[in-house]
Amino acid sequence: MNFMKALSLFLFGLVSAAGLFGRSDNVANVYDRVAQTLNGKWHVIVDPYENGYYNYRYEPFDKSVPATGGYFLDRTQKDRSELLEYDFEKSPTLDVPGDWNSQDDKLFYYEGSVWYRKTFDFAKGESVGRQFLHFGAANYEAHVYLNGQKLGVHVGGFTPFQFEVTDALRDGKNSVVVMVNNEREKDAVPTLNTDWWNYGGITRDVLLLETPDVFVSDFYLSLDRGRDRISFSAFVEGANKGDAVSVRLPELGVEKRFACDEEGRVSGSFARPEGMVLWSPETPRLYEVEVAAAGDVTRDRMGFRTIETRGREILLNGEPVFLRGISIHEENPLRGGRARSAEDSRLLLGWAKELGCNFARLAHYPHNESMARVADEMGILLWEEVPVYWTISWENAETLANARGQLRDLILRDRNRSSVIVWSMANETPVSEARTRFLKRLVDDTRELDPSRLVSAAMEFHNPADNDAHKIVDDPFGQYTDILSFNQYIGWYDGLPEKLDRVTWEIGYEKPVVISEFGAGALQGMHGDALTRFSEEYQADLYARTVEMLERIPGLSGMTPWILVDFRSPRRSLAFVQDGWNRKGLIGDNGERKQAFFVLQQYYEEKAKE
Ligand code: GCU
Repeated sequence: MNFMKALSLFLFGLVSAAGLFGRSDNVANVYDRVAQTLNGKWHVIVDPYENGYYNYRYEPFDKSVPATGGYFLDRTQKDRSELLEYDFEKSPTLDVPGDWNSQDDKLFYYEGSVWYRKTFDFAKGESVGRQFLHFGAANYEAHVYLNGQKLGVHVGGFTPFQFEVTDALRDGKNSVVVMVNNEREKDAVPTLNTDWWNYGGITRDVLLLETPDVFVSDFYLSLDRGRDRISFSAFVEGANKGDAVSVRLPELGVEKRFACDEEGRVSGSFARPEGMVLWSPETPRLYEVEVAAAGDVTRDRMGFRTIETRGREILLNGEPVFLRGISIHEENPLRGGRARSAEDSRLLLGWAKELGCNFARLAHYPHNESMARVADEMGILLWEEVPVYWTISWENAETLANARGQLRDLILRDRNRSSVIVWSMANETPVSEARTRFLKRLVDDTRELDPSRLVSAAMEFHNPADNDAHKIVDDPFGQYTDILSFNQYIGWYDGLPEKLDRVTWEIGYEKPVVISEFGAGALQGMHGDALTRFSEEYQADLYARTVEMLERIPGLSGMTPWILVDFRSPRRSLAFVQDGWNRKGLIGDNGERKQAFFVLQQYYEEKAKE
């Protein structure tokens, strides 16, 4: 290796290391810190050969040494002698936030690299404090540059990340360039195979955040399970030992003061304020919360409630609750593509509310932040999940670190949301020693980051060789969770609906049971008898028999049938019926309700009266 190459390797290593360790949790409560949004039209260059990153003509690409003419420099031709084979200013544009698949038919199935570029003005002279570049998410791997300088890399398609840019920003015009690659990989999280569309791109908000030099970087409040005290913790970047931090709930006339330790951290508790109404689906009461330190103030609107289990019951604010749920993918089928805004959240959660739900499973990955904020307002409890889905590389240390990072970023983002009651570690993962060890590590992280919520996962069950109508739920991972959840498809993948009438269950743990999936495919508007696959009648009959069967399960405490609305999946190829859609929705991709929607609505109406 020649000297220049070794030197550039070393320098690149330094830059990317700094970028890689750019903490993804510099600033919490980001919508309270927005200096300017970078949402809107971004110029893009589709780059399947990664020409913009490596300008080598010959194999094998040495991916450790970036090109000298990389697109990230955002160059324009300086004079007629220069050959430049890219020009963002003249390139097409895509909307950010937004996946590329649903914005351009040529990118519908695209899996590869796309370069995004946005220029924006910044008045350095008028700015005070510190600036951070925040991404709500980008699927799947994002390399971020500001004014040609690499800020870092983020891996994971559904969690927020940030880079401090205080010193990298220029007075006047700035150029941010992001290379996003959504290629699926065996050791990624999720792995190669999923039953959802691999939407690529900068799929969520991009914000320039601003804070004072010393600011409240993160805070967390939760009502203790005794419902008499509120625990509080915070981290104040740049604070000194003894600096004061105050928490105010103005509507309740409460102000509490705490002192930072030598690391700028505070933790403590205070009595539940007189007159505080606890948050619940029936009374989704939110309170203004102000956290202040060293002249900085950050505000949020929060609900206060408790969630716990007692034997086979789930208790919300100390009272048994039945979780009338539905599963939801992060997709707006009417517009197409990834759901990404409060309006999209209101559409999806509005449909859930109409169904009679007090609960929703946000499958199979962290949804955008507005889902939990809208659920807080609407009074819908949530199950949130990381995409540890199917055949993950359980023995791979990098895969585990990736999953732990995604889970951490989800919890740090949403742990102040009263709607969130369940953190789910996984979905349908084949039982093995390595798999259960991997998932146990995630549980330990969760308990440490947020002991106030319940832990679960969609687990496995089995049946004796000589009796496939007797189902045994004793997944070893169940010993570590608070709720026992599993997906069952009796009557669709497992026999015909009549089997539901004769199946029996053996539940191996004295824990509440929440059925995380059941369902059947139906094309909205397709009719036939109750044994015609993909007819609305088949789906409706299966729902009626399933809810009856589930009532026979000891400790049944809820369910999240699969699924609210049809969603895109490359696995669903039946022409004129699926056409690339998973048709298990209770609502079609046209927004029309199917017969089964009303079967479940009726059942939930009765459950709500119990
Ligand atoms: C599985 C899986 C879902 C999938 C569903 C189906 O249970 O968890 O992601 O979409 O089955 O087959 O429709």
